[in-house]
Amino acid sequence: MAILDILTWPDPRLKETAQPVTTFDETLHAFIKDLEETMRAGPGAVGIAATQVGSLQRVIIIDASSRKNVPHHGRQVLINPEITHWEGYAVGREGCLSVPDYTGNVIRAERITVEALDEAGATHTWRMEGFEARLAQHEIDHLDGLLFLDRLVSRRHDLYRRKRYD
Ligand code: NI
Repeated sequence: MAILDILTWPDPRLKETAQPVTTFDETLHAFIKDLEETMRAGPGAVGIAATQVGSLQRVIIIDASSRKNVPHHGRQVLINPEITHWEGYAVGREGCLSVPDYTGNVIRAERITVEALDEAGATHTWRMEGFEARLAQHEIDHLDGLLFLDRLVSRRHDLYRRKRYD
């Protein structure tokens, strides 16, 4: 296992579109292990996308289980994730391993349905809400070359310099 280098804004590779995974083999599983280890090594990190380590595969990992009192499905590896349903919207503060010096307020759907493959290539449908839904939307955005910076309502009013990590 290895901790991979995280690309940081404004690295142009963060703007690239990732391609669907078609082969579910040991190479993929080894990559997922490294991606998860990289996520766990990040300060307070709850999610990561393959794009952030320079790999253009549609793979994200999310884990909202460290947050108190939020509904979640624990650690999830979501491959080729597609949001098939959106409901409601909410403003919330987001951070990102690729934008270490800032946080920002972003509008996201409150409840979503996500279809994704697991590590074995089996399809699952997940209903997510609140923090976990925000997390999934943030990570799926990475696969399409989008950062939370691209979603700010106003760069002047909704971007905050981070003082330190908790
Ligand atoms: Ni991010």
